[in-house]
Amino acid sequence: MQNLLIVDDNVDVRQQLKWGLSGGGFGVHFAKDGEEALECFRRERPSVVTLDLGLPPHENGVEEGIRCLGEMLRIDPLSKIIVITGNEDHSAALEAVRIGAYDYYRKPIDFSELKIIIDRAMYLQQLEAENRTLRDSRDGDCGIVGDCEGIQRVLSHIKRVAASDVPVLISGESGTGKELVARAIHQKSARSKREMVAINCGAIPENLLESELFGHEKGAFTGASRTVKGKVEYADKGTLFLDEIGEMPMPLQVKLLRFLQEMVITRVGGRRDIEVDTRIIAATNIDIAQAMEEGSFREDLYYRIGVVNIVLPPLRERGEDVELLANFFLNRVGKETGNQGLTFSKKAMQWIRSYDWPGNIRELENRIKRAVIMTPGPRIEPEDIGASGEDVQRRKMNAGEMSLKEARQLLERDMVEDALRRSLGNIVKASSALGISRPTFYDLMKNTASETPDALSGRNPNNGGRICVA
Ligand SMILES: Nc1ncnc2c1ncn2[C@@H]1O[C@H](COP(=O)(O)OP(=O)(O)OP(=O)(O)O)[C@@H](O)[C@H]1O
Ligand SMILES: [Mg+2]
Repeated sequence: MQNLLIVDDNVDVRQQLKWGLSGGGFGVHFAKDGEEALECFRRERPSVVTLDLGLPPHENGVEEGIRCLGEMLRIDPLSKIIVITGNEDHSAALEAVRIGAYDYYRKPIDFSELKIIIDRAMYLQQLEAENRTLRDSRDGDCGIVGDCEGIQRVLSHIKRVAASDVPVLISGESGTGKELVARAIHQKSARSKREMVAINCGAIPENLLESELFGHEKGAFTGASRTVKGKVEYADKGTLFLDEIGEMPMPLQVKLLRFLQEMVITRVGGRRDIEVDTRIIAATNIDIAQAMEEGSFREDLYYRIGVVNIVLPPLRERGEDVELLANFFLNRVGKETGNQGLTFSKKAMQWIRSYDWPGNIRELENRIKRAVIMTPGPRIEPEDIGASGEDVQRRKMNAGEMSLKEARQLLERDMVEDALRRSLGNIVKASSALGISRPTFYDLMKNTASETPDALSGRNPNNGGRICVA
């Protein structure tokens, strides 16, 4: 059954709504403030919410309502949130719709009218949810693209660990897809109806991390004006994703270990033990074995979180996948930005294949995003994805990665190309810059041109495509 959540600080309004909306074929829940609303939202996953924007502690403002709206949409972007406003906050209502609210409704409330809006929102939410389930079942790999052996192994690990509750440690360089893999495990697990709560252990100052993780009681420290739950508690029945676990300060490692051993937490400043049932997935881009050797990571904690270790290969070791991923992002970003039909030039694809991608898939995605937005089209050239002379030096000219002949050809092509660019297509200048004769330059151009017809055919893009010989 679908659920409706009614958020309003006024008890009379809640009562009226209860009478007015009961018998609607859905479960009805109530909350009087932001905290209660978010807690109920996480627990009940309502399809539709009616949200009064003026919530305590800002009954006369809209800050708390807008904060709740943002948080709810982050937890479940498909939920339909109808913002209820007084006559005076029309601009706030529009702002709420801009952020992602489904609709707004102005007081005074006419129940039959509001009921129609709620029914329509319920119907739409159901359709969208069904659509998503269908898509997810087709998209069996949760958006993880890759054919190479390394990724196929990762995918089979994901399937296996998703069926159990064992802690998983995902390691890999920055941008290799650690969070994506964590989400895939969560989505495929029995906990997928609840949230995966992520916390970046490296980004939060040490003194705040404990309260962020375990929450605090009212009065626990200066400024703690109310009791706040921590991320661990929010992850109850769901998954807790501990990102950058290698950066976690030592004192907190002890507290985390206690939690993992007993599955019980105590809020900062509190005495009560609170049981939490959550699945732990951790990620790291530092070498934990080395951190243990150096004494910055506890071995006993490692044995708890690293029951299963999934290692993500860097992009430069994924062979053909880089091409697959490049096209995947080109299509996806093209659709998102309405800039479809772009293709990579041969040269651009060659550059993509030979670059060593220190920022891995995130870097690839970002470069392609920029290219799709900036390129008038229809073809994306190496410059559009930001290839520069410096990048050229990063090429994988390693033994085993390419033959000496291939490396020489690649270098020759780069040099010819660079000389032509610098001389604005003037072949005399270009050949003398390389210290070779004009006929040799022509030969080089011919030999490398078959791979990259346009750029090396000698047509100069800066002078309308003419080649200057003098
Ligand atoms: N195999 C993949 N297929 C498609 N997209 C991917 C794949 N791996 C990663 N991505 C995308 O690349 C980006 C970076 O991935 P993610 O954030 O999961 O990496 P990360 O390892 O957590 O990075 P960091 O160490 O910087 O936090 C995301 O936008 C993600 O969707
Ligand atoms: Mg990450």
